[in-house]
Amino acid sequence: MVVGLIFGGIELASVVALYVTEKGSTTTNSSTSAGITVAGITGIQGNDSNLLNTPYDATVDYQNTLYVTDRNNHRIQKYLMNSSYGTTVCGNGLNGTASNELKYPSQSLVDSNGNLRVAETGNSRIQLFYNGSLSAVTIGSVGALIIANSYANNIVPWAINVSSWTLLAGDINGKSGNNATTLNHPTDVTFDPMGNMYVVDKYNCRIQLFMSGQTVGTTIAGIRSHAGHDSALLNSHISVHLDSQLDLYVADTSNNRIQKFLRY
Ligand SMILES: *[C@@H]1O[C@H](CO)[C@@H](O)[C@H](O)[C@H]1NC(C)=O
Ligand SMILES: *[C@@H]1O[C@H](CO)[C@@H](O)[C@H](O)[C@H]1NC(C)=O
Ligand SMILES: *[C@@H]1O[C@H](CO)[C@@H](O)[C@H](O)[C@H]1NC(C)=O
Ligand SMILES: *[C@@H]1O[C@H](CO)[C@@H](O)[C@H](O)[C@H]1NC(C)=O
Ligand SMILES: *[C@@H]1O[C@H](CO)[C@@H](O)[C@H](O)[C@H]1NC(C)=O
Ligand SMILES: *[C@@H]1O[C@H](CO)[C@@H](O)[C@H](O)[C@H]1NC(C)=O
Ligand SMILES: *[C@@H]1O[C@H](CO)[C@@H](O)[C@H](O)[C@H]1NC(C)=O
Repeated sequence: MVVGLIFGGIELASVVALYVTEKGSTTTNSSTSAGITVAGITGIQGNDSNLLNTPYDATVDYQNTLYVTDRNNHRIQKYLMNSSYGTTVCGNGLNGTASNELKYPSQSLVDSNGNLRVAETGNSRIQLFYNGSLSAVTIGSVGALIIANSYANNIVPWAINVSSWTLLAGDINGKSGNNATTLNHPTDVTFDPMGNMYVVDKYNCRIQLFMSGQTVGTTIAGIRSHAGHDSALLNSHISVHLDSQLDLYVADTSNNRIQKFLRY
């Protein structure tokens, strides 16, 4: 139930360092825009270097290298810019507990030194792979979290041992819906440098943008309540990340692909 975590503020730190444009402060209406498949092949599941199996996460570093959390292949795939063939940088394809293995990884983050942090659902641990290393060390603390509270249909910031919650988006009583102020099973959240919030509104088949401080959202990817595999559609997508140009990368999980939505 707890997903969309931000490891120790690492993601926020790297987002702050990004090139700031004015684009993030405009309200777009690109709900009909087409996504570009940047990894995987729509609807095909596999473990070849150009295929994925149930990808849960996709993130890019400052060189636009893409890292995909290829969950059911128990690996992290790295794609150089414009390449549709990935190389495995973490995990050996087995689902074990050794330091070079991953078991159902669900999320990964790369820092400015090229080190990868991987959250593994199967082993309940967060693994740190130093750049180039195929084996990881288990790291402990997670610090501040932003939680996409899937079953309560809302987004709240949360820190360890803090008991008060502030609603950022969604219905305060947890009621699901598909209008501009409600969500249905949100699974991930990310922020741009202006503090605008992007929410994976999974069961509504869309990505919602909430301008900083606002609780009324706009659909910027996907089409409300239409699951599918066309370029404009999403199917059980799980995560969202921004690159330095504020393009969106969506792990379009059930389509076994990563979709990129250009920000214009
Ligand atoms: C934006 O979305 C609204 C509501 O769906 C729609 O009425 C309007 O035509 C859209 N505007 C553009 C420029 O696409
Ligand atoms: C990637 O493709 C874009 C668009 O075709 C091109 O402008 C860019 O130079 C390419 N980058 C690399 C590193 O190949
Ligand atoms: C990849 O998939 C094939 C066919 O399902 C399987 O035989 C093979 O063991 C898999 N390889 C890895 C590394 O999981
Ligand atoms: C782990 O991998 C082994 C060998 O590929 C497989 O038999 C087993 O079902 C897997 N376990 C889980 C929980 O997926
Ligand atoms: C990671 O290591 C490789 C190989 O040593 C190096 O080329 C690359 O620049 C490193 N990445 C970062 C972000 O430092
Ligand atoms: C949370 O509070 C408990 C009880 O007061 C304390 O033992 C624990 O160390 C605290 N955890 C953190 C991360 O501060
Ligand atoms: C969305 O629906 C809820 C009831 O489910 C309602 O309270 C709210 O006002 C609606 N928001 C908009 C923008 O229509």
